[in-house]
Amino acid sequence: MFGVRDPASAKTSAALAAAPNLRAATPRDSVEGADVIVFALRWDAVQDTVAPLPSLEGRVVIDAMNRFGGDPARSTTQDLADLLPGARIAKAFNTIGFENLTTARDRRTPAVMFVAGDDPEAKQTAVALATEIGFQAEDAGPLSNAKPLEEMVKVWLALSQRHGRGVGFALSEE
Ligand SMILES: NC(=O)c1ccc[n+]([C@@H]2O[C@H](COP(=O)([O-])OP(=O)(O)OC[C@H]3O[C@@H](n4cnc5c(N)ncnc54)[C@H](OP(=O)(O)O)[C@@H]3O)[C@@H](O)[C@H]2O)c1
Repeated sequence: MFGVRDPASAKTSAALAAAPNLRAATPRDSVEGADVIVFALRWDAVQDTVAPLPSLEGRVVIDAMNRFGGDPARSTTQDLADLLPGARIAKAFNTIGFENLTTARDRRTPAVMFVAGDDPEAKQTAVALATEIGFQAEDAGPLSNAKPLEEMVKVWLALSQRHGRGVGFALSEE
């Protein structure tokens, strides 16, 4: 289910045409009954988007966002934690370009998906989803590491200039 401002927009119709089993609704309607809620918004649209939502206390929320402006010391995950008291939050899916989310299974070497958080259930849900779509999901530590993960996307963007947007992070073991 996509939560979007205008479910009837041309942009939403194009997204649904590419993903025929999905539906679109307003953010308020789309969170109803959802097991997992993923935030993939512009960082500066979070407050307006959260405002009409019902309480997400106890619900698993995954933050896939990156901050490109505003307070450089704050993560978008901290913004969400402040706006959604009691939500079970994890950071994931933010350190690689979106194109790779549908092609992770086809990679020659698996790309790592870093997952940070303080809530074990939220973290485990993000790990399971990332693994299911083909990533090597790795526990990247507590929620306070959400900010370092946002910084990592700047490194990914620099790497993508040289290696293309299919580039991904990997772990090297001895
Ligand atoms: N693009 C990537 O490869 C990538 C990879 C990893 C993480 N991310 C992160 O994921 C997030 C989304 O990235 P994106 O590339 O999809 O960005 P985007 O195209 O700029 O924005 C995504 C959505 O934000 C919503 N939005 C924009 N302005 C808004 C406003 N004023 N009020 C309410 N909603 C608003 C729009 O939803 P509507 O559908 O309602 O218009 C839009 O579709 C960002 O935080 C980005 O850093 C992106």
